[in-house]
Amino acid sequence: MRVPVLPSSVAGALIALPRVLALYERTYHSSPLAIQPFTILYRDPSYDPDNTTLFLVSPTGPAIAQPAPVIYDSTGELVWADPTIGNTNDLNVQTYAGNPVLTMWVGSGNPGAGPEVGDGIAQIYDETYSLVTNVSAVNGVDGTDFHEFRIVKPGNTTALVTAYTPIPADLSSIGGPVQGWYLNAMFQEIDIATGAVLFNWSAVEHISLSESMITIAEFMNGSSAQTAFDAVHINSIDKDTDGHYLISARHTWTLYKLNGTDGDGDVIWRLGGKNSSFANTTADAAFFWQHDARWHGADTISVFDDGAAAFGDAVEIVEEPFGSGKILRLNEEEKTYELVQRFEPFPNASPSFAEGSTELYDSQVVVGYGTNPWITVHDLDTQKVLFSAVIGPNNASLWAEGAITNYRAYRTTKSVWVGQPGTAPSIAVDSENGTGTVYVSWNGATQVDRYVLYTGTTAETVDTALRTVKRTGFETALSAEGSLGYVRVEALAVDGRVLGSTEVVGTKLKA
Ligand SMILES: *[C@@H]1O[C@H](CO)[C@@H](O)[C@H](O)[C@H]1NC(C)=O
Ligand SMILES: *[C@@H]1O[C@H](CO)[C@@H](O)[C@H](O)[C@H]1NC(C)=O
Ligand SMILES: *[C@@H]1O[C@H](CO)[C@@H](O)[C@H](O)[C@H]1NC(C)=O
Ligand SMILES: *[C@@H]1O[C@H](CO)[C@@H](O)[C@H](O)[C@H]1NC(C)=O
Ligand SMILES: *[C@@H]1O[C@H](CO)[C@@H](O)[C@H](O)[C@H]1NC(C)=O
Ligand SMILES: *[C@@H]1O[C@H](CO)[C@@H](O)[C@H](O)[C@H]1NC(C)=O
Ligand SMILES: *[C@@H]1O[C@H](CO)[C@@H](O)[C@H](O)[C@H]1NC(C)=O
Ligand SMILES: *[C@@H]1O[C@H](CO)[C@@H](O)[C@H](O)[C@H]1NC(C)=O
Ligand SMILES: *[C@@H]1O[C@H](CO)[C@@H](O)[C@H](O)[C@H]1NC(C)=O
Ligand SMILES: *[C@@H]1O[C@H](CO)[C@@H](O)[C@H](O)[C@H]1NC(C)=O
Repeated sequence: MRVPVLPSSVAGALIALPRVLALYERTYHSSPLAIQPFTILYRDPSYDPDNTTLFLVSPTGPAIAQPAPVIYDSTGELVWADPTIGNTNDLNVQTYAGNPVLTMWVGSGNPGAGPEVGDGIAQIYDETYSLVTNVSAVNGVDGTDFHEFRIVKPGNTTALVTAYTPIPADLSSIGGPVQGWYLNAMFQEIDIATGAVLFNWSAVEHISLSESMITIAEFMNGSSAQTAFDAVHINSIDKDTDGHYLISARHTWTLYKLNGTDGDGDVIWRLGGKNSSFANTTADAAFFWQHDARWHGADTISVFDDGAAAFGDAVEIVEEPFGSGKILRLNEEEKTYELVQRFEPFPNASPSFAEGSTELYDSQVVVGYGTNPWITVHDLDTQKVLFSAVIGPNNASLWAEGAITNYRAYRTTKSVWVGQPGTAPSIAVDSENGTGTVYVSWNGATQVDRYVLYTGTTAETVDTALRTVKRTGFETALSAEGSLGYVRVEALAVDGRVLGSTEVVGTKLKA
């Protein structure tokens, strides 16, 4: 039996905000989508000259009219969004069964402005945007949490997911109730094909309450299952080639290396926090309330250093003036760690109170700032900003209110993610506009180079090519001048291949 044991929320003003419907969203003639704009704030002339990069995001918050997984291109245009999937997190392109797939967590919960853990399902979609399979944590009580859904390379047959369960616990050592509740942070490695749990780890057996950087008074007082004390808060899991795990725990400011081969997942070392096995050589190497820790070789780790945290509407803790991406190098002999690179926000800079990501793509780094829904792209070596954008308008009040947040920012390219929607392109005709305008869009299609407008005097004879227009963005407008009463539009690839055709529609225009 499922019992309602997840913390209902961290309460407060953020979730109480009314949903702001289509205030800032871009809307279209040929599509019912109403999705936040992707506002480009800086674009270096050298960045993505062919406009082939794609950004994968999951905007959440009260200003999102249509919660959905979203893909934008580097010109700021929408490429794909699917509100029928609903609220998502951690949208990414990974590889499964040899093919590129879209992966995401689907469920209710908003890591930036709502419950800080989730109860949902991890899902995998193919290039036609059809559901391939579900992945679920198996813990007897709650569903899969939204913080992680990573397919383990190089085999790509298993996935790492997080889960949370409140359990009774004595919290008196940190000033809480003797008969209190502890929010047990768990992670599992799951065989995607069979759903079998291959590794099951939980914080209560390995991490002491005293490591937590939050106090009973600040957050979730532990008096009930709904307010279980979230001492650890795992937000990322990575696995190295030796089979060991690296987890990031926001509430202990610590990255833990866990033994993946001893059956128990014993702590091999701690990086950061109250009991670090390594000492920072400089102040800027330290991190606070961090997210998204990833290995890059045997001694190098990338991480998003939030530098701040907010709990509910009452508590804000600021350790650094802004969140940043960091690359750290460990010295196992000296037991030290140093900052190798730091990727700072631009042009806006303020603390990130939750979420965030730092992802490496060859010689570039993509940083997502979480509760600040900004994305910056940097050169890995020089740290120079190459690209900067924000989900929604460039309006700081929205970020202060948590109205638009984005858990992580990932990137791919049109050569890797070849979106071939199972649906046809959509058409709309505006007969009132001069000689008429035909609008066409194709949600999720990444290969369209141009559109050809066909016309005819009957619905059965729409085969006279009227004009060809280069695709200009999510929606392309074509003049209907010269149309004969009925129209349709074909989508062509750069090599002239016909990718799809809209339905035939009457124009209500005189021939
Ligand atoms: C890429 O997008 C930019 C910005 O919209 C535009 O100026 C440029 O012409 C585009 N490049 C190509 C090759 O389409
Ligand atoms: C696993 O995924 C990575 C990248 O996502 C890919 O490079 C690799 O070829 C994949 N391996 C298999 C066996 O599919
Ligand atoms: C995945 O989960 C969804 C939602 O629970 C369900 O509707 C769907 O049937 C599942 N699909 C597969 C392939 O397991
Ligand atoms: C994983 O561990 C948790 C916490 O100890 C437990 O509740 C759950 O049943 C375990 N799941 C599996 C599949 O062993
Ligand atoms: C703990 O938090 C809950 C929910 O905010 C509140 O109702 C309760 O009074 C608190 N208990 C204590 C002992 O502070
Ligand atoms: C992991 O655990 C195994 C089994 O106890 C042990 O032999 C091995 O040395 C451990 N690895 C590390 C890196 O501690
Ligand atoms: C501190 O870390 C050491 C080794 O990493 C471990 O043995 C010890 O139990 C830890 N202490 C606490 C209070 O967690
Ligand atoms: C390590 O980081 C902490 C926190 O920023 C700082 O107080 C301390 O001075 C740093 N240590 C060194 C050697 O810089
Ligand atoms: C910025 O957002 C706030 C909060 O939604 C709104 O009141 C304000 O009008 C917005 N400013 C602009 C310039 O759109
Ligand atoms: C009229 O159509 C043209 C393209 O043919 C388009 O650029 C313009 O925005 C349309 N105007 C309105 C009011 O829809």
